[in-house]
Amino acid sequence: MSDLHAEAQLSKTEILARKNAEALLGGGQDRIDAQHKRGKLTARERIDLLLDEGSFEEIGKFVMHRTKDFGLDKEYYLGDGVVTGYGTVNGRLVYVFSQDFTVFGGSLSETYANKIVKIMDLALQNGAPLLGFNDSGGARIQEGVLSLAGYSDIFYKNTLASGVIPQLSAIMGPCAGGAAYSPAITDFILMVENTSYMFVTGPNVVKTVTHESVTSEELGGANTHSSRSGVTHFACANEIACITRLKQLLSYMPQNCEETAPALPYEPADELRPLLDSIVPENPNQPYDMREVIAGIIDADSFLEVHENFAENIVVGFARLGGRSIGIVGNQPAVLAGVLDINASTKAARFVRFCDSFNIPLLVLEDVPGFLPGTEQEWRGIITNGAKLLYAFCEATVPRITVITRKAYGGAYAVMNSKHIGADMNYAWPTAEIAVMGAKGAAEIIFKREIAQAEAPEAKLQEKVDDYQQKFATPYRAAHHGFIDEVILPSETRQKLIRAFKMLENKVATLPRKKHGNIPL
Ligand code: HXC
Repeated sequence: MSDLHAEAQLSKTEILARKNAEALLGGGQDRIDAQHKRGKLTARERIDLLLDEGSFEEIGKFVMHRTKDFGLDKEYYLGDGVVTGYGTVNGRLVYVFSQDFTVFGGSLSETYANKIVKIMDLALQNGAPLLGFNDSGGARIQEGVLSLAGYSDIFYKNTLASGVIPQLSAIMGPCAGGAAYSPAITDFILMVENTSYMFVTGPNVVKTVTHESVTSEELGGANTHSSRSGVTHFACANEIACITRLKQLLSYMPQNCEETAPALPYEPADELRPLLDSIVPENPNQPYDMREVIAGIIDADSFLEVHENFAENIVVGFARLGGRSIGIVGNQPAVLAGVLDINASTKAARFVRFCDSFNIPLLVLEDVPGFLPGTEQEWRGIITNGAKLLYAFCEATVPRITVITRKAYGGAYAVMNSKHIGADMNYAWPTAEIAVMGAKGAAEIIFKREIAQAEAPEAKLQEKVDDYQQKFATPYRAAHHGFIDEVILPSETRQKLIRAFKMLENKVATLPRKKHGNIPL
């Protein structure tokens, strides 16, 4: 803390300048150097990289902790381990907090929590996104329950703000214990490879309780959480890449739930995309990459994939179509034939709910053979988890369009944004197969006896498969019933979608009055 005797010799403006300089140093130059040596930026450097130059306005720069136990009456730092305030990203207002590892390891005190809560309240009141840089040893041990109370206050505000303003969490260092639950409540988590980790208990506790030997990186590093657990949506190679990704992500979002995302200028050109006509292979069992379909439809280079390495049998992400922000959910035939399993369902459900919360229209690209069968999935609750995706689509009131590129079988047909659960426009390509199940399975069940009794069962089976294929494995039955609005050529998909989303621009849809729904968790 400032030396009061020395301050007495200074003018009032000199005192202010001195305090400002002291606050900028956080836990001191040595600790800043140590932070850099670890390959990490400081709390303030992160804010500088995030915000438009000169736009940062700090709040609570001179806040200090109040606890006196365990020697804390002798060690004070201006700002108390977290930098908070507001500024702009590409001209748009955001609120930000940045935990300072150089002050008590970024650990959270009562006053530190109050600083975060103050800007959360401002963000909520003024309807602008909240961005947090997390780099902390968790609860400040010397503060005991005051720190736990502080965390709880933050969790509570995170929950109240959920669905009102976008909340983004960047994990830039340790994020352990209960501290991980604030980011977990927020909309998106970004992690930095090799320098950040999240877990409920660290490797030492794991060793004691379960006798497993595991490193921090294996237990809760960026790669673990972006591919195995799905806790994080983005694993970034370094801090600069992480901050760039944060800004990019923000560009697809509105400021709050009352607004729509900013649109980019758009001049119609090259709307027909002939390359799309040759993506779906002749053989219905051959894979193709749904990302190629996405690239063929959207504005050039506008796809920002979310959860890229988790549940890769479904692809979700933001894009622009005719300059407007949309959310895309696409089955991925290149991975597990695009089947819906537990992870794919929860991944897509969470994304759909984010888009719906923030008025981002949804495009579904469908090629799905069904839900994944088997004991592993059933015993882990594919029914409850698959229902999350169903529920998420059913309650979404944003403009919703589906394009069936190939398979739309069984329950998965219904779940993947079908007309029946509220989709506004449903298109199918001529390659679409819309039926209860694949032709072979269907023929084996409904013609079981006839096939068994036939002189040449194999030939009979093939005859029945062909028959079923002819009748049902097309988009036309569904189109006859109006469940498909139009069968379109792949090459005209982009044009159709731009027009349809424009047509749906002023959509108003309301849900029955309720306190809140009860999504199957
Ligand atoms: C007070 C802490 C601290 C903490 C670190 N420091 N964690 N001070 N409370 N929780 C201090 C250290 O004393 C040290 O001070 C400085 O921060 C840097 O810490 P180091 O250990 O030197 O750094 P490093 O080796 O990089 O290790 C970082 C770390 C480790 C992995 C985070 O410090 C650690 O394990 N800390 C404890 C983590 C923890 O168990 N937290 C409680 C979790 S429970 P000096 O003066 O030497 O620079 C929790 C409950 C929340 O958070 C519940 C919410 C409901």
